[in-house]
Amino acid sequence: MSRQVDIIVGFLKYSLRSQSKYRIHSPFVFDFYKNVLKDTHSYPQYRTINRLRKELENVSRFIKRKDLGARSKDFPGDQRFVRVRDIVHRASVSQKKGELLFRLVKRYTPGNILELGTSLGISSIYLGLASPESCIVTIEGCIDSANVAQENFDRAGLKNVHIITGNFEDKLAGALDEMPAPDLVFFDGNHKMKPTLAYFEECLQHIHPGTVFVFDDIHWSRGMEEAWKVICRHPKVKVTIDIYQMGFVFFREELSKEDFILRF
Ligand SMILES: C[S@@+](CC[C@H](N)C(=O)[O-])C[C@H]1O[C@@H](n2cnc3c(N)ncnc32)[C@H](O)[C@@H]1O
Repeated sequence: MSRQVDIIVGFLKYSLRSQSKYRIHSPFVFDFYKNVLKDTHSYPQYRTINRLRKELENVSRFIKRKDLGARSKDFPGDQRFVRVRDIVHRASVSQKKGELLFRLVKRYTPGNILELGTSLGISSIYLGLASPESCIVTIEGCIDSANVAQENFDRAGLKNVHIITGNFEDKLAGALDEMPAPDLVFFDGNHKMKPTLAYFEECLQHIHPGTVFVFDDIHWSRGMEEAWKVICRHPKVKVTIDIYQMGFVFFREELSKEDFILRF
């Protein structure tokens, strides 16, 4: 109950504080607003992913779920076996957010992408189809989910997505050491304050000024709200953009330090 109250209060605050496009003075952020957030072009790749998502929504096969991360509570009780279609509904990125990720990659063409939290691979497919030349490394702790994700990458014809199976705590450092500096990191697993900040700090050691971080569910809980505030205040962070469901973090040296709240 208190989490629901937090979510309502958080959304009201966001609605009251969000800025219209007329108040965006930063050319960089205005470009993000126009070409990433509000680009309404219907890219043909969207159809491929929608088709795949629809197919997965009909898969009643059970897979063994490893209980990981804060959002494991999305599966009530001690549910060790879960239907694929239920994971798609409860854990995968929505079409709206997935298409936003796709446009983000199209606009900034990050060569090296790291994702924390693959699940069935839906968000990875948005990333992978947006830029087939990019190399995407995605980490997932649940082996059965990772196997379904690999099937989905094969079905989408993606050759540029590589899954690492294991806990972020064990695998993140190695993944970062093995890739050149990441150009984009998508944090979409274990939505709790302490782990989120720990992953943020760890990834921060490997960035360059052009790196972009994207955090999912920044207002999902009091802990995630706190984590987001800490991230916004970090001295290395230049511009943050809060669209309520996600937060974007930029480190570009030419930008002045500023936090934006934009309607999505
Ligand atoms: C919200 S889902 C990811 C959804 C996916 N990005 C998508 O949109 O299709 C989060 C995933 O992170 C994984 N996860 C959470 N905490 C983890 C941890 N500490 N180590 C490894 N995987 C973890 C969960 O197993 C879950 O599959």
